[in-house]
Amino acid sequence: MTDSISRRPATVGVPLALRAESSAQACFICDEAILRRLGIDLAHPGVMPFSVPPEQPPGPFLDIHAGDWETSAMLAFDPDGAGWPDPPQTPTQPREMKMKTQVAIIGAGPAGLFLAHLLKRHGIESVVLESRSRAYVEARVRAGVLESGTIDTLNNLGLGERMMREGLVDNGLDMRFRGRTIHLDLPGLTGRSVKIYGQQEVVKDLIGARVAEGDPLIFDAEVVRIEGPETASPRVHYEHEGVARTLDCTFVVGCDGFHGISRAAVPEGVITTYTRNYDFAWLGVLVKAPPIPDMTYTNHDRGFALCSRRSMSISRLYLQVPASDRPENWSDAQIWDELHTRMFDTDRTEVKEGEIFQRDMAQLRAFIASPMQYGNLFLAGDAVHIVPPTGAKGMNMAVADARVLARGMAAYFSGGSRAGLDRYSEECGLRVWKTIRYSSYMTGLLHRFNEHSPFDRGMQLTELEFISQSEAAQRTIAEQYVKLSDVAD
Ligand code: APR
Ligand code: PHB
Repeated sequence: MTDSISRRPATVGVPLALRAESSAQACFICDEAILRRLGIDLAHPGVMPFSVPPEQPPGPFLDIHAGDWETSAMLAFDPDGAGWPDPPQTPTQPREMKMKTQVAIIGAGPAGLFLAHLLKRHGIESVVLESRSRAYVEARVRAGVLESGTIDTLNNLGLGERMMREGLVDNGLDMRFRGRTIHLDLPGLTGRSVKIYGQQEVVKDLIGARVAEGDPLIFDAEVVRIEGPETASPRVHYEHEGVARTLDCTFVVGCDGFHGISRAAVPEGVITTYTRNYDFAWLGVLVKAPPIPDMTYTNHDRGFALCSRRSMSISRLYLQVPASDRPENWSDAQIWDELHTRMFDTDRTEVKEGEIFQRDMAQLRAFIASPMQYGNLFLAGDAVHIVPPTGAKGMNMAVADARVLARGMAAYFSGGSRAGLDRYSEECGLRVWKTIRYSSYMTGLLHRFNEHSPFDRGMQLTELEFISQSEAAQRTIAEQYVKLSDVAD
């Protein structure tokens, strides 16, 4: 007996539907014996059993309503035990409790998704396990600056078509202070530019391609344990649709972000962490209004602000706020007042106002965990390093990790040499530290620090004065902005 919509066994689907968090309101089942076979307590408040006259055989469908009437689910019931013909199985729905693959990837953010696609290009199989739903992952708004290495990677995978069409080329980076603007001409200073294309758009493209290619990417699959990461055959334990499952593999890659479980699977004492927590955050908004022409970071006595964009009609704007603040604490009018002030836009004409249709908050933190591997477990992206967002390096760093790892795995699976993989942490280390250094420098240069003395503030503004007069200093900043995440494939 299977759930005709999601193809879950009814023994799984029905109890799931009855869990408190499913908001089940009622469940009609025609036969008490069936209820018992499904393992459902007749006294469950979500169940209202009623009898069918004994002379009437049970019908072929069991109508089980979970949630409100519109979302109720129909379960197919096979009274003869002959079984219903199986509908085509979508590749993202695992049928087996046990699976095996070459590489188990935990997390479907940029690190995990890029890695899965890069491995596939080398003929290496992987399964991606993601604890959240597809809708949640695709809607998560984050930064949106793609360095050339990231652009090339997406294009080389054959997945850059929408980015090339919809992404905006960004040739300039502006820094504003004391009402003046330092314009960094990126192609003039470095020969390169960056592209503005939201991280969630990249994620959508990578997920779309993975699903279209029929490769395993399992949403709502929460990894709870990694068994034997130090052995040649680790096992990943995860929960999917209320059922405990396992995935055996040669390598596990933890791409599960800062709060994931992979880093914690490494025994204590192996990994050293380095952290700086800032006492401020960024309040981010998406606005229906044309953006200002160049990405502009501003340093104002009241704090940092950033004007970026997502399209020619959508602005992406940020304000430095205390770490303890909440997006809902800010009225739209307060956001606009603060943006105009910090941008030195005194007549309120430069930063165009419009409907604020999305708000989020990001805490600022610098974090490095080293080494990035333990036995056959590798860690990539936010799982092992977090940059403060000034400089927009988070996704680019994650992609660079995935590229180094994919290269090492390709060498291993084609010739059996582990040398590249063994050097993974070492190879990433300097790039990661350099990226953290740059992001921390830009954060220090542009934000308001409560602990700053008038002397510190004077130094900060003088540094900006110096940059405004020195092409060499401008080139140094521009160069790191466009190509810190370069790695060889
Ligand atoms: N099981 C399965 N998936 C998990 C688990 C778990 N136990 N824990 C976390 N995840 C998933 C999260 O739901 C998330 O989708 O791992 C994914 C991690 O993705 P990201 O946070 O996007 O991290 P990463 O891929 O390293 O990308 C780094 O994202 O956070 C931004 O600024 C950061 O731009 C950078 C980029
Ligand atoms: C963005 O466009 O979201 C963005 C741009 C620059 C940053 C961070 C985020 O430093």
